[in-house]
Amino acid sequence: MPAIPITEELRTLWPRKDYSRVPFRFYHDERLYREELERIFRGPTWSYLCLEAEIPKPGDFRTTLVGETPVVVTRKDDGDLAAFVNRCAHRGAIVRREAFGNAREHICVYHRWCYAQDGSLTGVPFRRGVAGKGGMPDDFDPKENGLQKLKVHSMRGVVFATFAAEVEPLADYLGPVMTAHIERLMHKPIRILGYQRQTVFGNWKLYMENVRDSYHGGLLHEFQNTFGISRVTQVGGARMDAKHRHHVTYSSAAEAGDGTQLHKDAGVANDRLRLADGRLLEYVPEFADGQQLTISSVFPNAVFQQIRNCLATRQLRPRGVDEFDLVFTIYGYVDDTPQLQELRLAQSNMIGPAGYISMEDGEAIEIVHRATKGEATTSGLLEMGSLGEIPDEIRFRTSEVSIRGFWSYYAALMDMKPDGAIR
Ligand code: FES
Ligand SMILES: [Fe+2]
Repeated sequence: MPAIPITEELRTLWPRKDYSRVPFRFYHDERLYREELERIFRGPTWSYLCLEAEIPKPGDFRTTLVGETPVVVTRKDDGDLAAFVNRCAHRGAIVRREAFGNAREHICVYHRWCYAQDGSLTGVPFRRGVAGKGGMPDDFDPKENGLQKLKVHSMRGVVFATFAAEVEPLADYLGPVMTAHIERLMHKPIRILGYQRQTVFGNWKLYMENVRDSYHGGLLHEFQNTFGISRVTQVGGARMDAKHRHHVTYSSAAEAGDGTQLHKDAGVANDRLRLADGRLLEYVPEFADGQQLTISSVFPNAVFQQIRNCLATRQLRPRGVDEFDLVFTIYGYVDDTPQLQELRLAQSNMIGPAGYISMEDGEAIEIVHRATKGEATTSGLLEMGSLGEIPDEIRFRTSEVSIRGFWSYYAALMDMKPDGAIR
């Protein structure tokens, strides 16, 4: 008898049709993870690669990952972007090992096969052999043996790519909500300020849940709570695209209840704590909508953050079912004053592996991952905010609705919807 596909087997585990219960096994099943790499990261999705500002000049390239697949993204001499799998067509060696560079061609170190800026094979040493002996067969066709190319597209300088031959255009994939948000963040030319990287020992989906969960912000993050950066009582909410695959959570400084006074001065929420460097709490207004904190995600691997004046993208790179890396790219705008640039850099200490915020997210994910390992039938609970049909927009922060949105799109893509699933 043929084995039941893992997705078919796990599909029956959903306890409810509205994704308000998530079986813990979904974070741990090795076979499911292999399916995710194929159906999601190599499937009909657009993955975030980098920012165009990282590769401004002809020949600039950077190495990155889509799922677990190494990828080079580059700007060709004609100014267009290209992306290809960073794995030699000959024997599979990594072709580009540096994080960044500038090159007109890419040469594999192993047997020196040479590739053009778009990944096409242009040279094979000893292709005709030596003294008429050896070499490649006459019918060897370099055109058939280049590096595997990805479709690449940029939205306002944010670069995405896909492996899928059949996929909707990037603008349709992002949809109006996410497109408007990217346009908002990238409303003028940006400058890269730096990078941080964090390894988390947990399943990658726990992170995509974490960023969609705005209600943990003022509870888990003692720093945010103490110093009033993110409070569950603030005016805020979340918006999603029609398929609920991306999300934008936002909050303004205003309180929905009566708490503004409480956080007026640095440290007032807790009189034992004072900041030596008050710049972490400063805010130079820069968006007309008054939103001081926005966290958004593009399925499956991108997060955009605006925490006060700290702007960054986060790229999620899964490393097996139990581990992932986060790469933070911190940026500002080209026309920032030196003081504003300094402020952004100071505030970037809130994120990353030693930051006041991301460190705790990493720890929260790891304790969930550890405690749920080996669970065959039990589930986590996502009832905060609403049950049943998933709305495209919620106007409060005490909600886990966007996490249910993530799972509904995940289930559709993985062919794992529960019978009678709500949308
Ligand atoms: S593996 Fe790259 S040239 Fe042989
Ligand atoms: Fe968090």
